[in-house]
Amino acid sequence: MTSPIPAQLTTNQLEAFWLPFTPNSEFKRNPRIVSRAEGMYYFDAEGRKILDSSAGLWCCNAGHCRAPIVKAIQDTAASLDFAPNFQFGHPKAFEAAAKIANLAPGNLNHVFFANSGSEAADTATKIAVAWHRARGDGTRTRIVGRERAYHGVGMTGISAGGLVTTKKWFDALAFPADHLPSTYDRAEQAFSNGMPQWGAHLADALENIVALHDASNIAAVIVEPMAGSTGVLPPPKGYLERLRAITAKHGILLIFDEVITGFGRLGAGFAAERFGVTPDMITFAKAVTSGTVPLGGVIVDTRIYQQFMTGPDHAIDMFHGYTYSGHPLATAAACATLDLYRDEGLFERSAELEAYFGAAAHALRGVRHVADIRNIGLAAAIDLEPMDGAPGKRGFETMKSMFFDKEVMVRISGDCIAFSPPLIVNKAEIDEMFGRLAEVLKAQA
Ligand SMILES: Cc1ncc(COP(=O)(O)O)c(C=O)c1O
Repeated sequence: MTSPIPAQLTTNQLEAFWLPFTPNSEFKRNPRIVSRAEGMYYFDAEGRKILDSSAGLWCCNAGHCRAPIVKAIQDTAASLDFAPNFQFGHPKAFEAAAKIANLAPGNLNHVFFANSGSEAADTATKIAVAWHRARGDGTRTRIVGRERAYHGVGMTGISAGGLVTTKKWFDALAFPADHLPSTYDRAEQAFSNGMPQWGAHLADALENIVALHDASNIAAVIVEPMAGSTGVLPPPKGYLERLRAITAKHGILLIFDEVITGFGRLGAGFAAERFGVTPDMITFAKAVTSGTVPLGGVIVDTRIYQQFMTGPDHAIDMFHGYTYSGHPLATAAACATLDLYRDEGLFERSAELEAYFGAAAHALRGVRHVADIRNIGLAAAIDLEPMDGAPGKRGFETMKSMFFDKEVMVRISGDCIAFSPPLIVNKAEIDEMFGRLAEVLKAQA
């Protein structure tokens, strides 16, 4: 079964677009194309209604095509299409930065804008290295990441990230980085509801890395507080606190990559707030505009920012930035999105629904092919038993059945199915997304 190809697309036009992170040949035989979206749903060219269980790609936390966000983008497109933020500025960039910083804990008071999560990760590690150097600590250049981490596809993503498939092809281009062990161990944690009890000690591996290189050579540790795209791995209880203590002890900066966990996914503005652990920088993207216009960035602690503010008046303080850093459309979208999250209490709604959502996910325990289930906030992952000799195939086939037969869009990572719906989701829709997955799995050989 395929979805109808919209009338304006010819077969040849299907060929021109090389889709990212997609097996293109198969896709072009079985296109999965959506043409419109509203609230919790996508619609295809024939009006088939498809439940969005993944907020697009973990982005659309406010739901789709929300009127105040659409209006802000439309008004801005008609009044200020572009303005440079190198040496000049425009009001929405300042307003958006202030709103984002207000949501962040501690002294995380300054926002450097990028356009994506990958750029945000690159920006954060560059700020870390530059900050040490600006303080006269120029040997601190190494970055520490973690196995099974995803920080996008830029230089930080391929170097400090820990996803083998995105790393091994491009390792020759990577900068030197060390990796903490993954926080996930199925033997110890299977079917944990929320934060696993086991694993806080895994943070101590940072001491070994410090022993190997000496702290005087290490700039920063970057971790996702909850690894998202590699399969929803909530941090073990006490793990982030331990990582914070060890980084502080050795003068190493701690960066939380909150590209997925930011803006309500875990029932708070940021995971840093939920877990009560304040890093030195937070990266964000995706839900900051509810996915409407690309925007990413880094929230930076005041002491880091101030270190760069000591040069002469005519000299640029940091040689970094993107043409579209703080683009008018993106920052207008961010302002409208953050207002909507506040006005509708969507972070609180996410917290309120967490227990129901977690129970619905864990109801799949015992269903055919289910190997593990993890959840926290409005994020859950169902690991499936791989098919013999074909890792990833069960996940792929399940995603297709969900889309074509059950009218639910799910996100897969190999044989793991992840759920991260818009925060406007209701209980009936939660039941529907997990219920339909159970039906698909029961029908599989
Ligand atoms: C934690 C994290 N960091 C970075 C990225 C990369 O973001 P982008 O695809 O916007 O570059 C992602 C994308 O899923 C992510 O989950």
